[in-house]
Amino acid sequence: MKIEIYYFSGTGNSLHIARELQKQIPDSELIPIVKMLGRDSIKTEAQAVGFVFPIYMTTIPNPVKRFIQKLDLLDKTQYIFAIANRLGTSHGAFFEIEKILKKKGKTLNSQFTITMPSNDPKFNYNIPTEEYIADLETTLQKKLPAIAEVIIKRENAKEKDIEAQDKIPTFLLKVVPHIIALTNKMGMDYKMFADSKCGGCGICEKVCLSKKIKMENGKPIWQKDIECFLCSACINFCPNKAIQIKSFKTEKNGRYSHPYATVEDISNEK
Ligand SMILES: Cc1cc2nc3c(=O)[nH]c(=O)nc-3n(C[C@H](O)[C@H](O)[C@H](O)COP(=O)(O)O)c2cc1C
Repeated sequence: MKIEIYYFSGTGNSLHIARELQKQIPDSELIPIVKMLGRDSIKTEAQAVGFVFPIYMTTIPNPVKRFIQKLDLLDKTQYIFAIANRLGTSHGAFFEIEKILKKKGKTLNSQFTITMPSNDPKFNYNIPTEEYIADLETTLQKKLPAIAEVIIKRENAKEKDIEAQDKIPTFLLKVVPHIIALTNKMGMDYKMFADSKCGGCGICEKVCLSKKIKMENGKPIWQKDIECFLCSACINFCPNKAIQIKSFKTEKNGRYSHPYATVEDISNEK
């Protein structure tokens, strides 16, 4: 395969982007990051590789970071691209990726940021309207051919993130990953639980990308010794809106998953 597109997606936005991109790039393959993470070593012989992922807390999700660190990039791979998607904040994901690649003697050749509907029901959150979702899809479909062309022609293109709704200073964006690493070390984590609306269907276990959720006696139990990837798939795919995050008013907030993403799509990433 000439081009490998590695993706990580909790609620289908990144999967949708990766799928749509693949349609426009001949001789390309989609590979789920979560499936690869479990391997002892990850080697690629592709001429070009790319990463498609969501932004979490202004940076790359932990599993994506670990995957890129683990990925053995041989001399054959001469072109690397990254596509971040997020609800709208600025982010420092590409600084993080550059740092990892530099240690491997490689560089990030092209980078793009795409705005997608929010899947994060933590803060004062309403479900993205159908109109908003459709608008973002129109913008995505306009943007993708240009992105595909850059990749096919192996061009260097560091796109500026002009759609960001804020102006977080670069130095702060660079500090965030250190804060996240520290809070992870201290064992700080969101506490999730299923409330009385839980019907015991087991969908949360199916979509849980980190395999932290196990059904026990018909109820989901979050295993203490397994890291949560924060993908929010459990919360957003629960048909009864029964999964909540402690200390956040998630009972009142909406839920979102990409209209084309099924429970099986997310489950198949594992
Ligand atoms: C834990 C978490 C943290 C997030 N942090 C940010 C953020 O800092 N900035 C932002 O714009 N979007 C943030 N988002 C929104 C997602 O990046 C966005 O909805 C993305 O498209 C989800 O992609 P997916 O469906 O492939 O998982 C966050 C979402 C989650 C679940």
